[in-house]
Amino acid sequence: MANLPPVKIGVLGLGTVGSGTLNVLRRNAGEITRRAGRSIEVVAASARDLSRPRPVDTSGIRLTTDPYTLVEDPDIDIVVELIGGVEPARDLVLRAIRHGKHVVTANKQLIALHGNEVFAAAREAGVSVAFEAAVAGGIPVIKTLREALAGNTIQWLAGIINGTCNYILTAMAERAASFDEVLAEAQALGYAEADPAFDIDGVDAAHKLTILAAIAFGIPLDFDRVLCEGIRGLELDDIRYAEQLGYRIKHLAFAVNGTRGIELRVHPTLVPERLMLANVNDVMNAVLICGDAVGPMLLSGAGAGAEPTASSVVGDLVDVVRGLSVEADNRVPSLAFQPDALSEAPMCPAGEIESAYYLRLRAVDQPGVLAEITRILGSLRISIEAIRQPEPAAGAATVPIIILTHTVREAAMDEAIRQIEERPEIEGRITRYRVETFE
Ligand code: NDP
Ligand code: HSE
Repeated sequence: MANLPPVKIGVLGLGTVGSGTLNVLRRNAGEITRRAGRSIEVVAASARDLSRPRPVDTSGIRLTTDPYTLVEDPDIDIVVELIGGVEPARDLVLRAIRHGKHVVTANKQLIALHGNEVFAAAREAGVSVAFEAAVAGGIPVIKTLREALAGNTIQWLAGIINGTCNYILTAMAERAASFDEVLAEAQALGYAEADPAFDIDGVDAAHKLTILAAIAFGIPLDFDRVLCEGIRGLELDDIRYAEQLGYRIKHLAFAVNGTRGIELRVHPTLVPERLMLANVNDVMNAVLICGDAVGPMLLSGAGAGAEPTASSVVGDLVDVVRGLSVEADNRVPSLAFQPDALSEAPMCPAGEIESAYYLRLRAVDQPGVLAEITRILGSLRISIEAIRQPEPAAGAATVPIIILTHTVREAAMDEAIRQIEERPEIEGRITRYRVETFE
């Protein structure tokens, strides 16, 4: 061990995760060397604006505003991409691979949208691309699925995989904080994406689910197959009504390998308050995985933030260093399955997805309105679990009506909503969220 020279790395990006990674590498250098068998030395790093103050000691590191000098530097063995987004990250990663460098990245957008191209290039060059930090921050969910659960057929997984959404939903529920105010907090804490619309519109969770589904089921990465709904526009009223019915609202991701095909979806979901997932709060993430042999298991931890994410980045670095002496073909496959064994699988048609629902609508307060709504639901064989008519605000011309349904096919629910919204007694659009009890 003592005779091997240090492995030299170049870090692209010195923002939240880049700074966290440098800090963890420096603080834990001794333990990391003992585990990797060689020391890991950051020789160069890049950022757009080098005059910006950063919470990191960069002494001894060559700093540059030109990331291309790093990916082509013959002295660098591993490139760590922590810029984010598609370009220039994609181009930089592909160039690093072509220059024979291993890559570690936290970039879920890049892997979800261009992973097939990146992994093919890496195979051709005989290098590794590691991306544990791309999903669920500090939780080793990729390694768990890819390695520890390799003996299982994965039946489904579900979880909270966006820290920003969970932070916002928790703050709204616990402090009655406004959506915009807590989104600004999540940004200040370094949790949100450069464009926070990726978080609140569910796109970031959909990127992560694309990656998890490929690794769980052995299918190619295909972001377009994910049904994607975010938390934008979610109202405090819905959080309160859900609480009165015994539920919390969480932004959940589901990958299910069911009899009707594979379902991939991310959306706000009512979860019974007694379940563990309902009690995963703030920036914490949690992923429930069900394998045929292991049964259901839960992984939980910080889903975003500088050092939790750095924990995954550095774990990947140690893995890559340990694998340097292993023939490329004998390394753990990037997407868990051998590249030539990935295969397309039928998707469950959107209308066939089954879920229970929470509906909130506003109706004119007059006799017969509730009967008409229940008639429409009944005609589509949608059975009602609970119905509430909370006190309207003083002087309001319409009253809120809250309905919880039993499990129903999505196509039937779409049709019911269409028919109810057409009624003249109904004001505006119906708010609907799926309900998941995990029973
Ligand atoms: P930041 O925005 O904090 O940092 C990005 C870094 O990249 C900055 O140093 C920035 O330079 C540099 N940079 C940005 N654009 C360019 C460009 N066009 N060319 C060269 N350099 C550029 O992002 P994060 O650290 O939060 O995220 C990095 C990656 O990690 C992303 O893929 C993100 O999705 C992922 N990730 C983030 C997590 C988090 O908690 N923040 C958790 C898990 C994954 P400068 O500093 O000068 O502006
Ligand atoms: N913006 C992401 C989140 C970062 O909030 O979960 C972690 O991937």
